[in-house]
Amino acid sequence: MTRTQVGIVGAGPAGLLLSHLLHREGIASVVVESRSRGQVEETIRAGVLEQGTADLLDAAGVGERMGREGLRHDGILLRFDGTTRRIDFPGLTGGKRVTVYAQHEVLKDLIQARLAAGGPVVFEAADVALAGTGGDAPRIVFRARDAVEELQCDFVAGCDGTHGIVREAAPAGALHRYDRSYPFAWYGILVEAPASSDELLYALHERGFALASTRSPSVQRMYLQVDPADRVEDWSDDRTWSELRARLATRDGWEPKEGRIFHKAIFAMRSVVTEPMQFGHVFLAGDAAHVVPPTGAKGLNLAVADARLLALALAAFYRRGERSLLDRYSQLALRRVWKATRFSWWMTSMLHRFPGEDAFRHRIQVAELDYVTTSRAASTSLAENYVGLPFEA
Ligand code: APR
Ligand code: PHB
Repeated sequence: MTRTQVGIVGAGPAGLLLSHLLHREGIASVVVESRSRGQVEETIRAGVLEQGTADLLDAAGVGERMGREGLRHDGILLRFDGTTRRIDFPGLTGGKRVTVYAQHEVLKDLIQARLAAGGPVVFEAADVALAGTGGDAPRIVFRARDAVEELQCDFVAGCDGTHGIVREAAPAGALHRYDRSYPFAWYGILVEAPASSDELLYALHERGFALASTRSPSVQRMYLQVDPADRVEDWSDDRTWSELRARLATRDGWEPKEGRIFHKAIFAMRSVVTEPMQFGHVFLAGDAAHVVPPTGAKGLNLAVADARLLALALAAFYRRGERSLLDRYSQLALRRVWKATRFSWWMTSMLHRFPGEDAFRHRIQVAELDYVTTSRAASTSLAENYVGLPFEA
């Protein structure tokens, strides 16, 4: 049996950032991850960092490569009815913007920082389970290199994502899940091509939603709304480009820049919130507690905000013996979670075609986009949510 102060399940953004922030406060932690380091560092996920997320990574000493390789964006484009309108972030939010930098690049930077500081991060842990969650010394039990390990902790952080096991260890009835699934999926591709647009381009079209995002000057990330039953085999390169051209078309003949597609994936769209984000000495952070549809680019940023808050609360406990922030962690985190859930749901509703929707609903969506992009009040509301609401506490 080994001992640590905070046992962390999951080496995603939530778990690794929490471990890093705790280390900076002089608090020991062990991260237990079921996948290999290579798998964690290569999985293609989101890529938009709020102003506060980028500032936090910088302040925590892990923003150096992000500063060099990340792309700072001062706005987004909304395309509907064949026209394009811009939301100007700095102008509407007092100078804030977003940084486009892939989630797996953030993870590489965090893993490097954790290992350089002595970790420990246990990759390829099998049969990870919790024990003793009813008391004040929970344990993480797992197999690593064929030996059974038991890690005794003051606290456990469940940072193990949507399909994690930590949440499942809660006593029956202790947690409530609020859940909404959307009747469509996103099909995402990575393309070797120059950017089609200087800024992220979100499009509402009668054929469905499309998004042109970016990863670097030579790699682009594009998405199409598709049927949840679709498989990537249903989407040949020709069909993909023809659909992107149709949905992103303008009245003056705009076309995306095409190139070799080297990655395709389809994923479901859901909103889920778990309340509370705590049971006993176990705290939940990131996707383990909540999932948002990707339209508002909030998933990674919420994981970061949770990790920040939990690190602050644990630091108050270990430094000053103060429990009040730990006791209020769930309540404080959920305020931000529900606002991001609302924003993601709203962006999703405004920009997607819903099955069976009639011309009336489409006209309402177009009117909403027209309003959002012409009213200063409405565009400020979009902009301040997109660049990120202020952190709690
Ligand atoms: N034991 C150990 N590790 C586990 C287990 C388990 N039983 N189950 C899952 N994990 C690991 C996963 O392999 C993954 O590396 O937990 C990690 C969870 O990471 P994420 O899914 O990235 O979740 P989180 O850190 O909360 O970050 C949320 O990721 O999915 C995106 O859009 C989402 O950007 C958001 C971000
Ligand atoms: C991405 O680049 O992966 C991305 C960008 C914006 C979103 C969602 C995903 O809203």
